[in-house]
Amino acid sequence: MEDKELVKLALNIRKQAYSPYSRFKVGAALLTENNRIFTGVNIENASYGATNCAERTAVFKAVSEGETKIRAIAIASDSEDYIYPCGICRQVLAEFGDSDMKVISCKNNGEYKLYTLGELLPSSFKLEV
Ligand code: THU
Repeated sequence: MEDKELVKLALNIRKQAYSPYSRFKVGAALLTENNRIFTGVNIENASYGATNCAERTAVFKAVSEGETKIRAIAIASDSEDYIYPCGICRQVLAEFGDSDMKVISCKNNGEYKLYTLGELLPSSFKLEV
C-alpha cells in the first residue's frame, strides 16, 4: 500500500463526513500491520462535544474489527492547506501505533507531507499493556 493510495482514500471518504455544524469535511484512511485498510470521517453532533474526528472514527473501526496495530494514517479535508490530527486524536493514535507510525498530512489537491507520530506527539503518555 503506497502513501498515495491512502491519500486518495482519505480524500474520497471525506465526502461522507457528517458535519452540518462546522461544514468542514475530514476523511482519514489507515493501514494496519495486517495490511487492512480502514477509513473514517468526522461525525458531528448537535451537542458539539459529542463530535468524533475522522481519525478516531477510522481507528475505532479498525480496533472494533480486531486490528489494534496501526502503521500509517492519511488525513484529508476540504482545506487548501495541510491538515493535522488534533491533540485527542494524537493521543488515541499513540495507543495503537508506535512513534514511527506514518502520519500523512494532505491538502485538498492531493499534495501531502509525511510525519511520524513521534514528531507530532513526542514523549507521549502510555501504559504497559
Ligand atoms: N476534525 C477532524 O475530523 N479531524 C481533525 O484532525 C481536526 C478536526 C473535525 C472535527 C469537527 O467535525 C470539524 O473537523 C471542525 O473542527
